Amino acid sequence: MSDDLQKNTTQGKIEDFKKRSKSLKLMGGEKQIKKQHDSKKLTARERLDLFFDKGTFQEVQLFVEHRSTLFGLDKKEIPADGVITGFGNVNGRVVFVAAQDFTSSGGSLGEMHAKKIWKVMDMAITAQKPFIALNDSGGARIQEGVPSLEGYGGIFYRNTIGSGYIPQITAIMGPTAGGAVYSPALADWVFMVKGSSFMYITGPDVIKVVIGEEVTHDELGGAIAHATKSGVCHFVTESDADCLEKIKQLLSYLPDSCHSPLPLSDCTDSTERICKELDSIIPDKGNRAYDMKKIIKSIADNSGMFELSELWAQNIIIAFIRIMGKPVGVIANNPRFAAGVLDVNASDKASRFIRFCDAFNIPLLTIMDVPGYMPGTNQEWAGIIRHGAKLLHAYSEATVPKITVITRKAYGGAYIGMCSKQLGADYVMAWPTAEIAVMGAEGACNIIYRGDISSAKNPAAKRDELAAAYEEKFNNPYFAASLGIIEEIISPHDTRKKVIALLEALKDKKEIILSKKHNNIPL
Ligand code: HXC
Repeated sequence: MSDDLQKNTTQGKIEDFKKRSKSLKLMGGEKQIKKQHDSKKLTARERLDLFFDKGTFQEVQLFVEHRSTLFGLDKKEIPADGVITGFGNVNGRVVFVAAQDFTSSGGSLGEMHAKKIWKVMDMAITAQKPFIALNDSGGARIQEGVPSLEGYGGIFYRNTIGSGYIPQITAIMGPTAGGAVYSPALADWVFMVKGSSFMYITGPDVIKVVIGEEVTHDELGGAIAHATKSGVCHFVTESDADCLEKIKQLLSYLPDSCHSPLPLSDCTDSTERICKELDSIIPDKGNRAYDMKKIIKSIADNSGMFELSELWAQNIIIAFIRIMGKPVGVIANNPRFAAGVLDVNASDKASRFIRFCDAFNIPLLTIMDVPGYMPGTNQEWAGIIRHGAKLLHAYSEATVPKITVITRKAYGGAYIGMCSKQLGADYVMAWPTAEIAVMGAEGACNIIYRGDISSAKNPAAKRDELAAAYEEKFNNPYFAASLGIIEEIISPHDTRKKVIALLEALKDKKEIILSKKHNNIPL
């Protein structure tokens, strides 16, 4: 039988389909794949193989083709239009994905490429499952013109509509330039691969021409720059494989959607465990730092802690832990960095995390040791008033169970901001080492006893004497406890037991929310 005749048989058609699929699945071809590997990157298909449980990935719209005829595109085939879309299982749970493939015309985003992404985003939203984007793209497909921009617009719209409804995670695994950076920015969590990924609005060449500044791709928009300076990147990863593994770890803490139950893990830890190590963690000297992460790990099941934005605004820690197998979001001041003070970046970091947890029904545990807000023109002009207000807003609007533990300093407005009772904390506990006051003793005495101190024979001794009296009255948890401003004073070693009991007691918490369109958070 001739080839043409054979094509018209059922078997022939199936063979033809297989041949076409195979050729498309090779994406940009061997030469481009080698180039990708040479730059220490996997192809999109290799990434998906690592990401999904074996054999579960279902590809959507493999046969989509671009329809542009401009600038030679009529003669150019772009397999799968540069993006692999679909869904599959990650540790048994369904997740939707769009993985751009740099081997296929640089993963550039044209009209049909975007429409493939829209399709899986729409599916993820209606199916109420997480959406993951693996970005590796030269940006808007230049030859196609404005339909590419329309494509991005549709993605940003879906990122926004799906926000707070399904978890959205973006991994930057290659270039992400220009407006393309805004889909990651609209997602909940951004991962970057060290050395092979970068993000920026305008690249080094444009910067040099426009403002004469010289900077490399990596310095400007590499993983470390965004993880330490801008806060855009929440996780720095070492390789493509490490990045995909860390995304899976994050997913294990997240529900499928805001209407889905929290994932429950097997718990081998005990409800009765005493944390003896916490009884000696607070130094005798109030200005000494200690390791707040040790406290978080002591409270968590089996010392497990998954920290986010670890390298940015290190004066505050945000992390997921599990308590009796259930995810909990932890926000804690970090006395090791700027004494755990609140500043612009710490406020932003914590506020966004609080809103994420609240959107997905993850209870909040706040561990407070805060000396105040960072003083100075730098912070005032950077808008500490506006940014600090976000924290008040985020805590106040959150309706998930909110438990607060005060380990040491709880001073002034920053005390209010770290989920104090009046911001809606369901239960505030303090360790005997807590100091709950409008401000530190020395500063307070300098103001209220200015005359007495300056007229004293020995002003320093007088200040110390007055400060001791102030400390006795305010720098302890008893005054606050006597007014019912905190619920309990607890031994540090009981903290895990107490948190477990409270999470159980509050698990069916319901708050009445006023009927309105939405809040107006001070952005
Ligand atoms: C069309 C593109 C492309 C693009 C890359 N390619 N970017 N095609 N539109 N934006 C194609 C190349 O022509 C080449 O095709 C293949 O992808 C691989 O690209 P190379 O340049 O050979 O790769 P490399 O040397 O590794 O350089 C990678 C790069 C560079 C640094 C990303 O390609 C680059 O600068 N691209 C343009 C980046 C950019 O300016 N994007 C912004 C566009 S405007 P062949 O056929 O030879 O394999 C934008 C605005 C979005 O994105 C606004 C949204 C709101």
